Formats: sequence, C-alpha cells, structure tokens
Amino acid sequence: MSDLLKQLEAMAVQAEAELATATTSDSSEAWYRQYLGRTGEMTTALRGLGQLSREERPVVGKAANQIKQRLEAALQERQDAIRQAEMEAALSAEGVDVTLPGRSQNVGRIHPSNATLREISQIFGQMGFQVYDAPEVETDETNFTLLNMPDGHPARDMWDTFYTTTPGVILRTHTSPGQIHAMRDYCPQPIRVILPGKCYRHEDVTARSEMMFHQVEGLVVGRNITFSDLKGTLVNFVNQMFGEGRSLRFRKSYFPFTEPSVEVDVDCVLCGGSGCRVCKYTGWLEILGAGMVNPVVLQNGGYDPSQFSGFAFGMGPERIAMLKHGVDDIRYFFTNDVRFLERVG
Ligand code: DAH
Repeated sequence: MSDLLKQLEAMAVQAEAELATATTSDSSEAWYRQYLGRTGEMTTALRGLGQLSREERPVVGKAANQIKQRLEAALQERQDAIRQAEMEAALSAEGVDVTLPGRSQNVGRIHPSNATLREISQIFGQMGFQVYDAPEVETDETNFTLLNMPDGHPARDMWDTFYTTTPGVILRTHTSPGQIHAMRDYCPQPIRVILPGKCYRHEDVTARSEMMFHQVEGLVVGRNITFSDLKGTLVNFVNQMFGEGRSLRFRKSYFPFTEPSVEVDVDCVLCGGSGCRVCKYTGWLEILGAGMVNPVVLQNGGYDPSQFSGFAFGMGPERIAMLKHGVDDIRYFFTNDVRFLERVG
C-alpha cells in the first residue's frame, strides 16, 4: 500500500473515532470542517495524489475516494442520529402531558325568558299562530284609549306607566296595544297572531314584580269566533306547556278590552292541587288573562263587530317559567347570575 493510502487510512480511523464522540450539531459541523471541509485534513491530504506516478494514481485515487465516501457516509449517519436525539430532547422539554384533564369552554345558552318565549311561540305556531312584532315605545292612545280606556278611565290605574318627555309617548305597560296595530294591519282579513315582547311598569321591584318583563299577547279575529275557541286554544296550550292532563279554571274578571273577561288558572304544577306554598294553599296557579275582544276594540281596529268577533289573551313568560321550574323570585331573570341562567330554561 502506498504511503499516502496508509496516511489516509490512519487519518480516517482517527476521524471515525472522533466522530463517535460528537453529540451535537455544532460538534459534528466542527468535525466536518476539520476533515472534509475545503481546508480539512482529508481534503489537503488528497491533494497529494497529484505527486503520485501515473501507474499509482488511479489505484490509490480510487481507494482514497472510497475512504472519503466512507467518512461522508459516517458523518451523514451521525448527523441523523444527533438530529433525532435533539428533537426528542426538545419534545420532552416542552412536555405535553396528554393525561391532564382538558380545559372546558363555557358554552353560552338561550336566556330563560327567551327560551320560554320560544317554547310558547312554538306551541302556538303549531296551532297556526304567526308572530307579530309591535313597538315597545307606544302612545297613550294605543296603550289605553283605543283599548277602551279613554283619558281618566279608572282602569288605567291597573298599570303604573313610564311616561316620556314627549307628551302622549309612553313605554307600553302591556302587549295589548299590539292588538290595535295587528288589526289595523290585517283588516279586513281574519287574524291569528301572538305578540311577544317587553313591557315596562313603574313598579317597586320585588320578588313578584319587575320594571321590565315580557308578555305574550294572543289575538284571534274572524267570523264566528266563540269563547269555545278561546277555551280549546288555551287547553291545548296548557297541556303542551305544563304536561298532559292539566286542569284549567276560568274565573270571571275584568279587563276593559275584553267582554266577557276571565283569568285562567292551572292546577298547581308543584302540589298537583292539594295546596302548597307556591299556590298559596289554593291548589291553583294563575297563568293568564283572556276574554272575547270588546266590540269597541274591534271597531278601533277597523272591524265591524256585527260581522267579526275575536278572542285575546295575555300571559307573562317569566311567570310561566317560574311556575314550571319552581323559581320563587322574578328578579333572578334580570340580574344575570350565571348559576341561575345555567339552570333554568
Ligand atoms: N294586558 C293585560 C295585562 O297586562 C293582560 C291581558 C288580559 C291581555 C286579558 C289580554 C286579555 O289580551 O284579553 O294585565
């Protein structure tokens, strides 16, 4: 073997031993520069090939090349191993513990008042009622006068009203003025609508009353509409809302916009009628007011009372939700305590 080859082989053995101790990308690159780089020992030694005789050169050259390729392959293998080790070290340092419990996301949900409103709308929707939107800012005329309560009528005292600085403009105290809007809109067509929305009353806020709450008004106008239609509609509604087999009680009452007028009770959903704190030991829960639309109101809406008749009702979804879910304070609905909002509705 030529001296050059011996020298190269010895250098390679030493280089391989050193490479085995390189454990980082930096040290493997330093090794490359030391042996195989442009000014590396191996590269420099290979230049000695030029001094060999014509006969020796191809043989030694070939063998020298193989040594060089052997070192290059060894470097490649070493670098792959280093890269793999470095990646594993980085991953375990970042430390994703897949056994930790996940962080739960808070999921929003429909407000209990709206959930009840939707439920009511759905039940009446099945009976062919459409939803009619009416304004919350009303006139004294529509909220009272056209509902058969002219100025000074004592029944106006049933509602404590928020007046605005504009004369005659008020916040509606109930959804009933929507009846006038719907009638004037539909006349002379028959009507079957519910009118859900907010109402405002200038009242002390207590467990039983709020300044702002929701109502759902119902209005049916047509030919030959009778009290039986009202009764059938409400029986169907109550059985769907509170469960099949409920008892209903119609008590005579007074509202200026209906004649005759009733208040409707359902047998107490908590005690089943035997008497408890919620039904105040009467066995009954009042859920809505209703009646046959007063002829004066029909006329104010544009209908001829000798041709048309109708029924109307008004209920409070918060009250209905309270009865259904055993909530004893209406203020929970509007104080936004998440513990309440998550449980009811
Ligand atoms: N507007 C009434 C109230 O707020 C409720 C009501 C009673 C509505 C009888 C009606 C009805 O449509 O017929 O107290």
